[in-house]
Amino acid sequence: MLIALGVTGGIGAYKAVEVARGLQKHGHEVVAVMTHSATRFVGPVTFEAITRRPVITDQFAEGMNADIEHIAIASTIDLLLIAPATANIIGKLANGIADDFLSTLYTATRAPVLIAPAMNSQMFAHAAVRKNLDTLVARGARFVEPGEGYLACGWIGKGRLAEPDEIIAAAEEILRPESPLRGQRVLVTAGPTYEDFDPVRFIGNRSSGKMGFALAAEAAHRGAEVSLIVGPTELEPPSVREVVRVRTASEMHQAVMSRASDMHVVIMAAAVADYMPERAPQKVPKGADTLTLVLHKTPDILGDLGHRRLASGRGPALIGFAAETQDVVARAIEKRAKKHVDLIVANDVARTDAGFDVDTNAVTIVTADGAESLPLQSKTNVAGEILNRVERLLSGSRSAESASPVRG
Ligand code: PMT
Repeated sequence: MLIALGVTGGIGAYKAVEVARGLQKHGHEVVAVMTHSATRFVGPVTFEAITRRPVITDQFAEGMNADIEHIAIASTIDLLLIAPATANIIGKLANGIADDFLSTLYTATRAPVLIAPAMNSQMFAHAAVRKNLDTLVARGARFVEPGEGYLACGWIGKGRLAEPDEIIAAAEEILRPESPLRGQRVLVTAGPTYEDFDPVRFIGNRSSGKMGFALAAEAAHRGAEVSLIVGPTELEPPSVREVVRVRTASEMHQAVMSRASDMHVVIMAAAVADYMPERAPQKVPKGADTLTLVLHKTPDILGDLGHRRLASGRGPALIGFAAETQDVVARAIEKRAKKHVDLIVANDVARTDAGFDVDTNAVTIVTADGAESLPLQSKTNVAGEILNRVERLLSGSRSAESASPVRG
């Protein structure tokens, strides 16, 4: 999404740099629009370096009027966020005064408007400012309340710019207001499993956890309560409601099955071992030229969830992955049917730019309605595409393979 970040002349302008960075981390593009007085607090170069876009500081700068910039931006942005917003800009917006780029942009755009005021507490309480705020609220603008505390002017009171995290969360709420995932309990598995064959050796795979982590982070951004069951990986998991670390397929099976009935959605992105070796009690000594390991099938977590749902007629929406090196989509279609899941993500793991331990992925999403191939893109974007389809499943606009997901 494209966000115009209006920055006005207050001491909190430095926090707007953090806001811009945070919005980008959530996958948004940011174009910074600074008033003249904002540039007295923070240099435009700082915003330019962070947003990697020219910063708009002057309505009449050369080149600004070739395609009537404020109209061009007004019609392309998804959100106008002003942080910090001074009493001056609030007064101008409330009264339709358009005498600089930011106030002109406000009158020209039909995008939602989010305002984070920051000013001296007496100013914030002043009847004129209150009236202007009421006018903007009545017109549909949303606000991030200023915090209480020590103000730059030396006073203690309400008026300090809200913290960047609060501003970013408020922006996210506006940009993704109606996600059917909001408040839903979503379980995501990520990473590999390690199957020990003696006290020091194991059979594992190259899963890094990146795909599962991207799904967990994106589901959390959409307001889901995420439980992340993660196999051994060096990477830091995203901050979600619950992170459970496991090692083996059996441990992952236990962690998933004990939680699944409380979930609305289960997404199995983990690369779970299909076989586990018999474990020797002591380190296997080097001896003969060959070593034979006896492998036993591991519990099929996704298969068990699918069969349990089929038998009971109720259970969470089930999303699986199919990691294949040949006949990728055909095998994914077979797995979807065999494991009784709603949606399966076919992943060609023979590619070097997709699948295991890279930041990008190219997948085909298989549902009851057919197969849809997505181009190579970041795992964050792939996660977004998968969750868009999960949202449709939850809304009931796509038929689930068997039972409907349990709600509540
Ligand atoms: O972690 P990354 O480095 O980002 O890599 C991402 C990934 C390649 C691991 C991921 O995109 C992926 O494809 N995950 C599924 C890997 C896998 O185990 O595929 P499978 O085709 O063997 O299994 C099919 C499905 O059954 C999977 O959803 C799997 O989680 C599940 N399964 C498999 C075995 C088992 N015993 N229990 C299961 O639940």
